[in-house]
Amino acid sequence: MTTTPMTATTPGGSAYADAARDHLWMHFTRHSTYEQGGSVPVIVRGEGHRIWDDHGKEYIDGLAGLFVVQVGHGRVELAEAAAKQASELAFFPLWSYAHPRAIELAERLAAGAPGDLNRVFFTTGGGEAVETAWKLAKQYYKLVGKPTKHKVISRNVAYHGTTQGALSITGIPAAKEMFEPLVPGTFKVPNTNRYRAPEHLREDEKAFGRWAADRIAEAIEFEGPDTVAAVFLEPVQNSGGCFPPPPGYFERVREICDEYDVLLVSDEVICAFGRIGAMFACDDFSYQPDIITCAKGMTSGYSPIGAMIASERLFEPFKKGTTSFPHGYTFGGHPVSSAVAMANLDIFEREGLNDHVKENAPVFRSALERLLDLPIVGDVRGAGFFYGIELVKDKDTRETFNAAESERLLRGYLSKALFDAGIYCRADDRGDPVIQLAPPLTIGPAEFDDIESRLRSVLEDAGQHL
Ligand SMILES: Cc1ncc(COP(=O)(O)O)c(C=O)c1O
Repeated sequence: MTTTPMTATTPGGSAYADAARDHLWMHFTRHSTYEQGGSVPVIVRGEGHRIWDDHGKEYIDGLAGLFVVQVGHGRVELAEAAAKQASELAFFPLWSYAHPRAIELAERLAAGAPGDLNRVFFTTGGGEAVETAWKLAKQYYKLVGKPTKHKVISRNVAYHGTTQGALSITGIPAAKEMFEPLVPGTFKVPNTNRYRAPEHLREDEKAFGRWAADRIAEAIEFEGPDTVAAVFLEPVQNSGGCFPPPPGYFERVREICDEYDVLLVSDEVICAFGRIGAMFACDDFSYQPDIITCAKGMTSGYSPIGAMIASERLFEPFKKGTTSFPHGYTFGGHPVSSAVAMANLDIFEREGLNDHVKENAPVFRSALERLLDLPIVGDVRGAGFFYGIELVKDKDTRETFNAAESERLLRGYLSKALFDAGIYCRADDRGDPVIQLAPPLTIGPAEFDDIESRLRSVLEDAGQHL
């Protein structure tokens, strides 16, 4: 489909890119790029897995916006669900009152969540869901007579959000240093990056999984089991470039959490809603968390919402006396977002999107693995429709780039070159340099090949830009 470029100016009479440079404070963005003459990319439209910029140029959306647009762009029925709900009941809070759409959605999420994860607390996004889970863990242990349990363990390089609690749980020092001191009581353990595992464990996935899980037990012992409330883990860790759990990892983590009475929080802000193949990714890897945090794909981004889903056991003390959870958000479980989430989940069921991901994940993976013939591609890893491609300086030794090389490669070349090649995805260096892919769940083999060939054209030239 062709599309005409957007009309030239904002209502205020400026070119869009100029008004963005002058007034829009973009997130996680180096504005110097635009102050020095670069043009802000402005995306104006989406249809399926394609997006268009304000010059009419078309791109493959290789990141589903930001791991969000599971059913693809331009779904009129989701817009209609929003319009219908806004005209019926645009807003009502969940503060001592309920409304039908949040009730229906809570029931549906509880039915889809494993075990006794029956209690759904809505937020407006993922970071708030993480905050909510930590606050619940603290209050739960106070209510059951273990008031000193409040600390959280999470993994190196993992991202859990930007609010001060969630940022404290985040394991990316560069994202935190400007905001220290953060909330005390968080501790980091190794992640499951097998490519960078201790050498003696690289060839034995199970031993590596056991080793990584045991680091959690070690941290709990070190901090004191009577002070640790929760472990926050993503099913597949995004930041650092898609680290799936080694076989046996979550089984061992569950054992550890049971042994020390520590809550296992599955942070599925990216991995839920079909990204790996199941509605909740803990089912993809057969483990039972105490809490799930989720957001992004719940509405495919057509309206914001997030949720913390807690087990019946955690809700138990809140059934009694004067106890309540003194926590909430004005827009948590917004009626419009809840209605859109219901319509979005209808699409998942009608179109069999989760099965589509399960069937096509191996095809997607093998298309991307073809890139391993390039000298700069060290590793391709991930699961479902969620992959990271790690770039290395020397494939034999797995040597990575130094800070200056990484800067030249990612910011000086890759980000722009990928965009010029018509693929929107992410070149990320929060860990070792990676390209991240998480397209809409609707794509198939033809698009996998297209993505591979666009990446190839860019990566073939990358060596010249170090
Ligand atoms: C695993 C994980 N947790 C939490 C968050 C924070 O979500 P939000 O940006 O909606 O606050 C993210 C965002 O990408 C995430 O990937």
